Parts: sequence; structure tokens; C-alpha cells
Amino acid sequence: MINMNTNDYIDLFDELEDGEELNNFINKDKRRQRFPEKHFKDVRNASAGFVAPQDDSLGSFKFTYKAARFEEWWLLDSLGSFYEYQWIKDVLRRVKGGKEASVYQCLSGPAVNDRLAAAKVYRPRALRNLRNDGVYRAGRADLGADGKVVIDDGQLHAMQKKTEYGRELLHQSWIAYEFTSLQALHAAGADVPQPYTMAHNAILMGYIGDEEMSAPALSEVNLERSEAAKVFDRVLYNLDIFLKNERIHGDLSAYNILYWDGDISIIDFPQVVSPHVNKDAFTIFQRDVKRVCDYFARQGIKSDAQKLAEKMWSSYGYQIFEPEVIE
Ligand SMILES: Nc1ncnc2c1ncn2[C@@H]1O[C@H](COP(=O)(O)OP(=O)(O)OP(=O)(O)O)[C@@H](O)[C@H]1O
Ligand SMILES: [Mg+2]
Repeated sequence: MINMNTNDYIDLFDELEDGEELNNFINKDKRRQRFPEKHFKDVRNASAGFVAPQDDSLGSFKFTYKAARFEEWWLLDSLGSFYEYQWIKDVLRRVKGGKEASVYQCLSGPAVNDRLAAAKVYRPRALRNLRNDGVYRAGRADLGADGKVVIDDGQLHAMQKKTEYGRELLHQSWIAYEFTSLQALHAAGADVPQPYTMAHNAILMGYIGDEEMSAPALSEVNLERSEAAKVFDRVLYNLDIFLKNERIHGDLSAYNILYWDGDISIIDFPQVVSPHVNKDAFTIFQRDVKRVCDYFARQGIKSDAQKLAEKMWSSYGYQIFEPEVIE
């Protein structure tokens, strides 16, 4: 069995990015041998309510989406457990390919009570940014594949030392934060996609949009003034729920708010921080509020971002640590 490690992944993605012809890289007959699906620990039952695995093996997981050869392997590896446990039946298309993750429109399986689901598949490349994640990780306990705080000494040590294993654990923690934040905020009534399940490299959530088109982000939409006022109120309502649930989004802007049929869905939570323990929390919160206000100012809704942030923050009695400049 060949064990792919983090660097192997990154090298492969680099080759892919460099436009190198990878189509022949993986000889189909040898694919399973070269890239075994299960070299990561399975974390398929991160969410309650998962159903029994299908009898047939992953070998039957063929999808409609025409992926490039390496991407196909990456999807098989990342989404295989969702298929096995009947969360999804098919991958229909790629909604968006990004620097950190790609999102795919999937046909749901019986475990999901909706026709479509969105799978966010993280790129190993994301590991490279770990050195920049300090501001978000400060005071934030790392989470394991089960979404619980890591307490194992060996694992804590590996993460502290940023060994390869440690970096994989940190990657997992990043994903677990996204998933557990969606769980908590969805349960609290916030406008976020419904989280279904999490795997070692992907999360499955409610899909926003329809068959043909995924929901645009607010950044791609111009709103009538009256609609803008309504949507602005709704965003603030959500920020309030976030604060009440001790979370700051940390990368909020019109790019991470989807808009569909007059409703919003806030996405993209891996960098979420706690107002209690992160000394930059208020600065991060202010930045979130300012970016939101900037967008709505362009839609004709003027507001004082600074005052708004202070008012919301102090209404929960959160402390303002001595501010530090962050990018
Ligand atoms: N639940 C969803 N339903 C429909 N589309 C979604 C969903 N989640 C994400 N998307 C689409 O995928 C894109 C990327 O998702 P997300 O912002 O979570 O990832 P990201 O890694 O931050 O990507 P980026 O760097 O482009 O922001 C979104 O801008 C949106 O177009
Ligand atoms: Mg995003």
C-alpha cells in the first residue's frame, strides 16, 4: 500500500496547476493501487443520524461530473465516505474551484432530506497557509476528526511542532471548525447552510441555488435600496446570533454571503474565532462589520461600522483587549 503524505498531495496539485498533462499520470488499472482511498482515518460519522454503509464498494462510485483524472481521484478520496454512507449518490458539477477549496453540487442520497447537497472539498494546498492562521488559532483549542477538542498529548505535541502529522491534524481542525460552527449556528437559527456530515477532507451541507445555478454571492448582486435595507438588517440579525453563540465569522464580506430568492446564507467558517479567548477578537469583529457595511454603503445604505460594532459587542459584555494591528 502506498501512503500519500501531505507533500505528495501538494506536489501533485502543483503539477496540476502547472498545467502538466496528468491525464496519463494515473493509469486507470493501477489507480486503486497507487492511490488507495483509505489512507486517512475515516471520520464519516461526525454527524448524528448517518445510515449504514452501502453493500457495494466504492468501486461503484461513478459520477456525472467530468472531472480531470487527478481531480477524480481527489473526489473519490474526499467524498468516498459520503457515498458509502448514502449521503450522496452523485457529483453533478463543480460550483466553484477556489484556492482553498472547491465546492461541488451533489445529488443527495437517502440520508439527506433534500434533492441537492453542496460538498466543500478542501485542497491540500490549504495546509500551506497554516503559518498564517495564528491570528485565528490564538486561544482556540484544536478540534479532532470527531469535532471534539484534541487532548491527546502526542497529537498536541505534533501540532505544536508542526510535524507532518501535526499539520494534517491542524488541517482537520480547520475543517472541524467549519463544520461544528455550521452545526451550532444552524441550530441557533442563523442563516447558514444545513450541515450534514464531515469527512477527513470535506464537509457536506445544504446546497443554495437550483439545478442550473448556484446562489450568487452578494458581491455579485446589486440590490434595490429597499431590498438592501432588508438584507442589511438580516445580516446584522445573523451577526447578533453569531455573537450570542460566541462566534465571530472572521472572514465576513459580501463574498461569503450567498443571496437566493431574497434570502441570505452565510458561508465559509473555518477561521471562526471566539470573542472570549482571542485577544484580536474585537478587531476581527470590527473588520467583519466594516466589510459588510462597505458593501451596503455601495447599495445606498449608510451606516457607522465602528459604532455598530461597538454597540453589538458591548451588548454581550465582551471584553475589548488592547487592539493589535492585523492585516
Ligand atoms: N452551500 C453552498 N451552496 C451553494 N454554493 C456554495 C455553497 N457553499 C459554497 N458555495 C460556493 O462555493 C464558493 C466557495 O465556497 P467558500 O467560500 O466556502 O470556500 P473558499 O475556500 O473560501 O473559497 P473562496 O476562496 O473562493 O472564498 C462560494 O463562493 C459559493 O459560490
Ligand atoms: Mg469564501
